[in-house]
Amino acid sequence: MSRGTCRVTFQPEGRTVFVLRGTKLIEAAGQAGIILNQPCGGEGTCGKCRVEVTDDAPQPTSADRVHLTEGQLTDGWRLACQLEIASDMVVSVPQETRFFEQVVLTEGKALRHPFRPNVRKKLVTLAEPTVADQRSDVDRLQAALGEDGLEVELPLIRALPAIVRSGGPEVTAVLQGETIQWVEAGDTTGQLWGVAFDIGTTTIVGALMNLPPPPQADLQKVASRTNPQVHFGDDVVSRISYIEQNANGLEKMRERLLTCLNDIMAELCSAAGIEHDSIYEATAVGNTTMSHIFLGVDPSPIAHAPYVAVLRGSVDARACDIGLHINRHANLHVLPNIAGFVGSDTVALILASGMACGEEVQLGIDIGTNGEVVIGNRDRLIACSCAAGPAFEGARIQHGMRATEGAISKVVVNQEVEVAVIGGGKASGICGSGIIDAVAELLDAGIIDPTGRITNPEDAGDVPEPLRRAIVTFEDQPAVVLVDAAQTRTGGPVLLSQRDVREVQLAKAAIRAGTEVIAAEYGVAPEEISRVLLAGGFGNFIRRSHAKRVGLLPDISTDRIDFIGNAAATGAKTALICRDSRQEAERISRETQYVELAARPDFQAAYMEAMMFPPRA
Ligand code: FES
Repeated sequence: MSRGTCRVTFQPEGRTVFVLRGTKLIEAAGQAGIILNQPCGGEGTCGKCRVEVTDDAPQPTSADRVHLTEGQLTDGWRLACQLEIASDMVVSVPQETRFFEQVVLTEGKALRHPFRPNVRKKLVTLAEPTVADQRSDVDRLQAALGEDGLEVELPLIRALPAIVRSGGPEVTAVLQGETIQWVEAGDTTGQLWGVAFDIGTTTIVGALMNLPPPPQADLQKVASRTNPQVHFGDDVVSRISYIEQNANGLEKMRERLLTCLNDIMAELCSAAGIEHDSIYEATAVGNTTMSHIFLGVDPSPIAHAPYVAVLRGSVDARACDIGLHINRHANLHVLPNIAGFVGSDTVALILASGMACGEEVQLGIDIGTNGEVVIGNRDRLIACSCAAGPAFEGARIQHGMRATEGAISKVVVNQEVEVAVIGGGKASGICGSGIIDAVAELLDAGIIDPTGRITNPEDAGDVPEPLRRAIVTFEDQPAVVLVDAAQTRTGGPVLLSQRDVREVQLAKAAIRAGTEVIAAEYGVAPEEISRVLLAGGFGNFIRRSHAKRVGLLPDISTDRIDFIGNAAATGAKTALICRDSRQEAERISRETQYVELAARPDFQAAYMEAMMFPPRA
């Protein structure tokens, strides 16, 4: 071992790596194959990367002192993103610090558009050239196809003589829109697949679809992965700041994304038993930042006032030029955005839900790492982006975690607190749906008041004794124990702290105030909205009544609230199977009015009001 190298062992795996002195502990963990949570992208502001250095922990940093108690510091707890390795060390990584894949919502509603893909195949027999028939190869091909106005590009013209003379007179033309994309010898009409991607900030979903005419059209395989860019931060702003602060930051992030997309594709191909070459088109949606990174466009302007995107409209490019491992002639279609913070995933939601087609005024809410809200009907649509923050995904919550095994996903408060844990067994923390449940149930139990204050046990006279005992003091503030230390995987209690309740208030107020502002702009009271369409991974796991109870949704009857699944993925699939839907998406993108909430004086007032919880009925 050289003098500049340190030996770091991670427990309980016992994995050892050798790293240069000065390496951040979080990077050493990555080298050891142990991925840690880093919602703030290693800025030292979230406190979620805590580990225990078992001997001779280095001096705490100022960030350590903010996020760890005196007792924890004495026991050797440190933030892995702040610790620069200066000597050999043994580090214990607790369960709740580890990054796990979350439960991913891959399904959306059934597709409502007709089956008319942009890419199709046609088997034709070419006439033999003769002394009497002097037509060129291209003319004979176009005549055999029997469709007017099909274009042929130079690469195909160059390759055509060899293709048409290598086999028999039968060839398969691959048509993409009004262009003859390629020609294949023989009959390959049975091999025609497409792939649709929803590139979320946290989760990426890919759907492989069989594109020959029905009845095979509905065959599909779905796979998903956590977006590997989460290692650069949980939200788009931290990712943009990584790009701005690191040389080749954009390329690094794009490479990770492409590796992930190609991994998903490999899984899909193997599940369907096909070769990558059989995929002739890809479509993709994502928030505006994700689309920019995917296409290699610097998204930095989005993070700075006046928050404009580089690109709004849709993009068509050769998939192989972008880096997707599919047929080398395949087209990639990226759907259009609306604004810097409302991307093609929202266009996809509008497209898939049919909001832009009917007379009914509907409200679409996509709660992901951020919240996008859109209201309207076929005559007019208005959208905004709410900086709700990642609280509903478990970030910035004391014992918050993603919806993975060990997360409390449901809370019921009767005489005492009861919880349901994903995967059964002991709890490690609480995810978004559990957080909403906990707050709603504690509001009804009178333990949280409408201002969001957790009641002192002495003031909770009408609260049953076991519940009153659950109210404790945590870091000088009240908190409610949801699961006792003896029943958790961490050995400490899982609790909902006063600060957590404030985070929920901030998040739900942002979405609710955004709803109020765009509803007012549209000229309807939120209660007059015909339907509320809840989309996104989180939206589909919460209880409707509880979303209303905490004031996240307006007070409309529960049967007018629909879960529409992963609407972004459904929109990407729609664009794959129906070429006309792309014009519809373009129209939605162009005509949807974007409201920048930061510039609206009425937003602040609505936001302050929405911070309050509705009173007990
Ligand atoms: S504090 Fe270390 S990743 Fe956020």
